[in-house]
Amino acid sequence: MSSEGNNNPRYLTFALTKGRLAKKTMELFEQIGISCEEMKDPDSRKLIFVNEELKLKFFLSKGPDVPTYVEYGAADIGIVGRDTIQEEGRKIYEVLDLGFGRCRMCVCGPESAREKLRGQELIRVATKYPHIAKDYFYNQKNQTVEIIKLNGSIELAPIVGLSEVIVDIVETGSTLKENGLVVLEEICPLSARVVVNPVSMRMENERITGLLSKLNRVIAQEE
Ligand code: PRP
Repeated sequence: MSSEGNNNPRYLTFALTKGRLAKKTMELFEQIGISCEEMKDPDSRKLIFVNEELKLKFFLSKGPDVPTYVEYGAADIGIVGRDTIQEEGRKIYEVLDLGFGRCRMCVCGPESAREKLRGQELIRVATKYPHIAKDYFYNQKNQTVEIIKLNGSIELAPIVGLSEVIVDIVETGSTLKENGLVVLEEICPLSARVVVNPVSMRMENERITGLLSKLNRVIAQEE
């Protein structure tokens, strides 16, 4: 049952991406009057944090799990990078660009690989984002490639000869530079996004849209 117009609203639950994104999210939430003192204790081993007054709950999870919690309704709202949303392909609404965590999804490699990207030769692409890489090469470029899934330190792949290029996130570009690699093609810009469970959006529409408009106003001021 909807809690709109009810004096005893249900809790709204947020899944935040553990780490820098969660910290930036809570800084932004503080600006719209949402805080969670419990979360500030660095020694706490608690997994879920509550703001009783506002009837809000927050939990931290690994980025790729955030869309899962939101799709299943275990969280009403999630904060996660656009890269993860694209890669996971869950049934969730992406409703707001928070403007932080800006970076780019790119095809990278040694300068010598530029030529290979134009040719017909079957190249190997190492990445933590196989769906994004596949969509880019197969649907946007119409190029058949071999995709190799890795879990981190992707820049290693072309250096040790596992692949010709990589599809990875570039933020400052320093990891590429320090390893003699360059951006060869840009796939898309990325940043932190708010995602919402479709049922929650319907049942808790007033609370969620109210929160989104407040966030929107703060973001607009900062730009
Ligand atoms: C990310 C990404 C790049 C690096 C880019 O890796 O995969 O390696 O950051 O940042 P830069 O352009 O500012 O150098 P992350 O540190 O998240 O770890 P990972 O290699 O384990 O994915």
